[in-house]
Amino acid sequence: MADQFIDMRSDTVTRPTAAMRSAMAAAEVGDDVFGEDPTVNELQRTVAAMLEKEQALFVPSGCMSNQLGLKAHTEMGDEVIMEQDAHMFNYETAAPSVMSAVQVKTIPGINGVFRAEELPPHIRPAQYYMPRTRVICIENTHNRAGGTVFPIDEIKKISEFCRKNGIMFHLDGARLWNASVATGIPVHEWAQYFDSVSVCFSKGLGAPVGSALCGTKEFITRAHKWRKVFGGGMRQAGILAAGALYAVQNNIPRLAEDHEKAKYLAEALAGIPSIRVDLANVQTNIILVDVERTGKTPQEFIALAKEKGLLISGGTFTKFRIVTHMDVSMEQVHRAATIVADRLCGAVANPIIRNAQEKRQLAEIKSWLETRGYRHLAIGEGTKFQTMPPGTFSFRLNVQVKLEGGVQSVNIPVDAVVMPKNAEAGDFPLMFEAKSAGDFTNTNKRRKEEAVKMAQLRSTYGDKVRFNLFLCGYFDSGYLGYEAAEGIDWVWEHRIDDLALFGL
Ligand SMILES: Cc1ncc(COP(=O)(O)O)c(C=O)c1O
Repeated sequence: MADQFIDMRSDTVTRPTAAMRSAMAAAEVGDDVFGEDPTVNELQRTVAAMLEKEQALFVPSGCMSNQLGLKAHTEMGDEVIMEQDAHMFNYETAAPSVMSAVQVKTIPGINGVFRAEELPPHIRPAQYYMPRTRVICIENTHNRAGGTVFPIDEIKKISEFCRKNGIMFHLDGARLWNASVATGIPVHEWAQYFDSVSVCFSKGLGAPVGSALCGTKEFITRAHKWRKVFGGGMRQAGILAAGALYAVQNNIPRLAEDHEKAKYLAEALAGIPSIRVDLANVQTNIILVDVERTGKTPQEFIALAKEKGLLISGGTFTKFRIVTHMDVSMEQVHRAATIVADRLCGAVANPIIRNAQEKRQLAEIKSWLETRGYRHLAIGEGTKFQTMPPGTFSFRLNVQVKLEGGVQSVNIPVDAVVMPKNAEAGDFPLMFEAKSAGDFTNTNKRRKEEAVKMAQLRSTYGDKVRFNLFLCGYFDSGYLGYEAAEGIDWVWEHRIDDLALFGL
């Protein structure tokens, strides 16, 4: 699947790397039901120490971890409070009622977040005919809300509320690592507010299997027993634990890359008028795209995207979900943006977003050139295209060209004009046109415009003119036909160092 498609359905689709596989292959193992697997024990010690909890218990899945948490905290007939979009409520197959015989009371949140002051009306008075409010659960980051971070100040208040009311506080921290990387707040600082914390190794961290439930020794002793009842007693589980151990030791800081990619992609998608992306909500690696205004359902989008080689998943009734992770490259992220924008939405980009992107591209070119000793000439300095000194550059410079027939002249603005350091008298500067995400639509029209520019430049200045494109990467092979057709060369923004190949 992943080889044929750009698979952005979830960060759970990541596959173990060669290094992780060799750590797994080399793992020392024993029978974990006897407590004798050294790698499992090492993982449990490591994770408990990271979260500053007394003990951790390795389990096969995030679902089991959450549900063991509930089982070990509750008695039959208790009530458990969670946000209405919680994974534990929506995607764990009614396990609280099946495995723990407890009742779930959901409360509404905004982007997965509710506040301590909203809780009192939901807490049951101590009456024999009412369930006992026993656990409050939160999710951080929140999957269905789009990877949003639960603010730590609010967590602190809810924790105090729980303590005051004798209620257990559980964290579904399947992506706590992402919350930590996004905020810079270490995992143990989040964990201190909870009686139990579940973390997953098989999401963004890239391990094939596994989660851990963490808490006090007494709590984990109970959860350990129930793990056996749930069928989670594993034997030589060290092979799996080694992948998880590798993941926590190596793959946490790199989550920042996933977050950057998500931000980049979200900004590109936010430029498409027919769909909606709430940029403030793109805090980690999940993007929710609202397609309500397109008249298509998320399921229709999912099917169309698949035909174009992109796998996305359902988010909510009107939204699809697209997730960045370690097996998706920046080039694939660019391609995903093109597929959604051009192929699925036939978009005409929002010019504000387009301008912001061009501005970013020019800032990148400026910094690249200045690092190499080039000097920026402001337009006001009387900069003229043909008389720029070697080692200088200018942006949005007007270049005069003759119109067809050769009599009338017009100015065409060129985004970046660079006179190479080794230019000789009479040489032309290099010209670059920044092509941003906003340009990804109507490829034929764009191509025609560029071809006309090139023809005008050549008929005015001759064949030595070098006119190139600085492509943001949303372009597919349609654009790259340029070189063959009009002699227009290009540089990818994500490979800006290729500017050196132009003699800069
Ligand atoms: C927030 C959250 N909690 C729990 C889980 C369950 O994890 P698993 O699939 O390992 O059971 C997931 C899975 O995606 C999740 O997103």
